Parts: sequence; structure tokens; C-alpha cells
Amino acid sequence: MNYPTVRLRRLRYNPLLRDMVTETKLSVDDFVMPLFVCPGKNVRNSIKSMPGNYQLSIDLLLEECKTIKDSGVKAILLFGIPDHKDECAQVAREENGIVQQAVRAIKKEFKNDLFVIVDVCNCEYTTHGHCGIIKDNDVDNDPTVEILAEQSVSLAQAGADMIAPSDMMDGRVGEIRKQLDKNNFEKIPIMSYSAKYASGFYGPFRDAAESAPQFGDRSSYQMNPSNGDEAMREIELDIEEGADIVMVKPALSYLDIIRRAKDTFNMPLAAYNVSGEFSMVKAAAEKGWIDENRLMMEILTSIKRAGADIIITYHAVDAANLLNGK
Ligand code: PBG
Repeated sequence: MNYPTVRLRRLRYNPLLRDMVTETKLSVDDFVMPLFVCPGKNVRNSIKSMPGNYQLSIDLLLEECKTIKDSGVKAILLFGIPDHKDECAQVAREENGIVQQAVRAIKKEFKNDLFVIVDVCNCEYTTHGHCGIIKDNDVDNDPTVEILAEQSVSLAQAGADMIAPSDMMDGRVGEIRKQLDKNNFEKIPIMSYSAKYASGFYGPFRDAAESAPQFGDRSSYQMNPSNGDEAMREIELDIEEGADIVMVKPALSYLDIIRRAKDTFNMPLAAYNVSGEFSMVKAAAEKGWIDENRLMMEILTSIKRAGADIIITYHAVDAANLLNGK
């Protein structure tokens, strides 16, 4: 019998040693919790396809922020459900838009204890559900970039800590940067959804945000899931245009893209563990087919191991509580 000299199992027997040689460790600092804010008072609409997530009116949103803060999670990503939609998403850039109001209320109450990121896009605010202004049955890039920049300035004026454009129009990071700077918001960073794929994994989110396209799909602006080189071009362009943090979305089916992005660019990298990824875990757990906590931590760890510095996830509070032994 030829016994091995090198035995990798030696490092696996003792749990204390296993901890010492653990390469990837999750931290609550990694997480961003997405939230959905809607008009009204005392409104808590459960989102059927995303158990534990709700459309919340501002009063209840503030309570939720307290829970988040108490879990140790320090950042949230806000999405709005407006009471009124139109063809060109007018309410998305108004001083009294739903997200603008929410940002003001949260910053007033939590000051610097909570980092407030705002998603910048039109799909929640347009009657047709597309991410911009429609011309000839398609989203018209350049006028859309203009209103996205207006929306960004308006959200910065409300007190948002970081702007996160998710629309995938060409050139929007550059224009948003330019308009923010022009309005004295040169200190406000941009986290760009740089490589955002046209994905079936957004299904549950579109229930949550009531933002499903009413005709066609988003393939003329979001990326083809088959493409990796193109993701590197998207990210490179966003960096040139002034993005401070770049993002890959979704996360789980795109771990290779996360790794390539991390290896290619010396940039802080975010990954969005999207609604469908979350809902699959929840659904399988409800059926008793998987161990929810175990899968949640394994998934989040794999996203970090792939190279993400920031993980946007609906599991944020649950994962933080688990990390803190609660
Ligand atoms: C808005 C936006 C979407 C998501 C984040 N921002 C939906 C979409 O592009 O259709 C998806 C988030 C998720 O699925 O959790 N454009």
C-alpha cells in the first residue's frame, strides 16, 4: 500500500483548525437589503412569490429599517411602487416621488447609521413597464439617459447616499456622473448595474415592483445570458464613464462572470442575488426539500468566493442574524 505524504484531510478534522484555514468568510458588512416602498399609511402588502418581503408604506418601512439596522446590516437598496404611472415615468424624478419621500424619512431618522442606495430605473414608473421612453416599440436610448440623470439628481437631493442605475442604457453612467457633479453631488458614488442580463430570475421581483413589461421583453437593452466577453466590455465602459462600484446581476448563474470581472478590473464589485434565486430557496424550503439556512449561507459564500465584495440579497437580515448567532 502506497500511503500519501500529503493529506489534505489533516486540515479538516479539527473544527477550530477548519475555521482558521477558511478562505472565504461572510460578514454583515457584505450585505445590502433591497426594500420596496409604496404610498399610504400602515400598508404591508406581502409579495407572494418572495416570502418575508413586503411592499411597505413609509411608516412601516422605517420600522423595517430599524430591524435591519439591529441585525447589523448597514445598507439598503430602495425600489418604489408609485401611485401613478405614465408613458415617460414623470413621478420617478419628482421631489415628492415615493422613493424621494422614503429617502428623506429614512435619512432623517437613521442619519449615518444606515447607507441608503437607490435603484435608478423607469420600469416601475412607466405604464408600459419598460425601462425608458418608448419610440418605435423600443426603448429610445438617449432621451432615456437624460431622464435617468434627472431622476438621479432628484434622489441625491432627497439625501440618497449612492445612486444605482439598473436600466442598461448606453452611456447612462457618464451622463449621471456629469449631472450629479453639475449639481454639487460630486461626492455621491455610483454603483452601476454594469453586466445585467435579460434573466428569467427576475420574475418574482416584477410581482414585487409591479414592473413587468406590457409588451415584448428587455432583450434589446439587458444582456444575452450567453455572453461573457460582452460583460467585460460593459464593465470597462462603466468604469471609464465614472462608475465607483460595478455589478454583475444575477449572481448564481453568473459566478464565472463575477470571477472574470474581479480578475480583470481592480474595482469594488457587487453581485445581485436576485429575486428568483431567493424564491427558489424559499419554495424548496417550504416543501421541506432543502435546509434553508444551510443553502442560504452556501449560496452567499459562493458569491463572495467568486469575487463579490458586496452582495445584494433578500437573505441579508436572516444571514446577518445567523452570523451573529441569533
Ligand atoms: C429594474 C430592476 C429589476 C431588478 C432590479 N432592478 C427588474 C428588471 O430588470 O426587470 C431585478 C431584481 C430582482 O430580481 O431581485 N430594472
